[in-house]
This record gives sequence, structure tokens and C-alpha cells, in this order.
Amino acid sequence: MKNQSMDMNISNEAQITARPLWSTPTITVRLNNADPLVRSLERIILKEEAAQRGGSKSTPVAGLEAGLSTHWLKYNVLNWNYPEIAEFRAHVLRGVREFIKLVGDPDDPQLAISGISCWANILRAGESLHVHHHDPAFVSAHFQVKTGYGPDDAIPYDAGHTIYYRPGFIDRSHGGQASAAPSPWDDDWQITTKPVEGKLFLFPSYVRHEVRPYIGSSYRISIAMDVFVKKQQLPIAFSGTRWHVPKAAELQRARLASEQDDPVVVG
Ligand SMILES: [Fe+2]
Repeated sequence: MKNQSMDMNISNEAQITARPLWSTPTITVRLNNADPLVRSLERIILKEEAAQRGGSKSTPVAGLEAGLSTHWLKYNVLNWNYPEIAEFRAHVLRGVREFIKLVGDPDDPQLAISGISCWANILRAGESLHVHHHDPAFVSAHFQVKTGYGPDDAIPYDAGHTIYYRPGFIDRSHGGQASAAPSPWDDDWQITTKPVEGKLFLFPSYVRHEVRPYIGSSYRISIAMDVFVKKQQLPIAFSGTRWHVPKAAELQRARLASEQDDPVVVG
């Protein structure tokens, strides 16, 4: 967040300064008429999952032992060669630019994208993603492809929901009425979000989160990603199958869309 401070002289004897020490910038992009895109992405992801089976060795992640998520170091959704992926990539680059605008100048070379890692998660009955964060990435994102529930399905409690934890808070307490001494600060210690198809949510990579177990007869699909920027000076080559490095023309399109205030970004 841009450093916002306000000095207020209220007397000759004291100066009061209001300034947030920490804040958590986020961007939400909701696609208009998302259905054609998410249904295509679902087909593509299932096809790529089938192709991945029997391929590289699984790397367990956030409680998952097998499946497309566990090969996340070996592929990149943004590099798949489909027109729908190109459309998705445009939404992602626009979203990243909007996020960077919250924290600095989106044209600052230090905030230019070094590389993006992007993978798909398919959760089947009973599967979940345990609490984790994506440090040392700079900004991470979730995109919901499929909730796994029909419009008339009763969703058991928070099944398949994503929970984001207020930075630092999870280390202290479970908060709320569950703690011995609840405090007004407990009110937003965790934010539980119901999956919405076609929603892209960007957040600082240090924010811990989890996906509660999916309880249903279908499957839940999301796409996740980590974005790294030049300023990080990490010993990562950003080459090979794990990485996507955006093309200049696509970044330029994202810049123009942002300047024209394309209505797909709602907040
Ligand atoms: Fe995650």
C-alpha cells in the first residue's frame, strides 16, 4: 500500500500522526459472462491432467500426495497452447498490473515481472489444501474454474471454501469466541470465501490460506499462481517448463486495458 500518513496539528504541544503500519492490498477481478471460459479451462485442465499421469514424479504439497497440483514444479498453465489460455493470461496480466498499482508505480522497472509460476488444482471428494503461504513470491492469485457444486446443491458448512488468515494472527490465537479472551481484533482474523467461478483474486504471497475439504460428487478446480518481480533479485533463472515470462506485447495490452479502465476489474 502506498504510504499514507496524515499529520494533524491539534495544539502547539502535540503532533498526532495517523499511519497504518501494515495493510494487505488485494485485487478481485470478476469476469463478465465467465461460463464459456471456465468450461473451456475445465476441459483443458482435465486433458492436461490425463497427459501428466505417469509422467514426472509427484512433489507432495499442502497435504496433497498426487494429482496435477503435485507436479506444479514441472509445468505452467500459462504456457499451454490454447486460445482460452491466451484469454486467461490477459486477465491475469491485467490483474497483476492492478495489484502493482496498489503498492507502487506499475511501470517501475523494479516491479516488472521476472516470472510467473502457475498450476492447476483439482480437488476430489474429501481433498483439501492445508494452511500454507507462497513466500517468497511477491503476489499470488487464485482463479476459480469450477466450484464442484450445482446451483441447487446444499454445500456442507465451509466445504471447498478458501480461508485467508490475517497476517500474523494465526501465530497468536484461534481468535473469536474460541479464544479465552476475545477481542474486537478477532472479527476478521480469518476471511472465509465461497468459491465463485470466474473470480480471480490477487493477494500478497505472505498471506496464509487453506482450502477446506471439498465434499461433493464432482470435483473442484482452481488455478493458482505466484508472481516474482525484478526487485527480488532471486537466484532463479525463470526459464524452463515451470516458468512463464510475459511477452512485451501482452504486458502492453494489459497496460492499455488498465488505462482505459476496462470494467472487468471491480475492486
Ligand atoms: Fe496456496
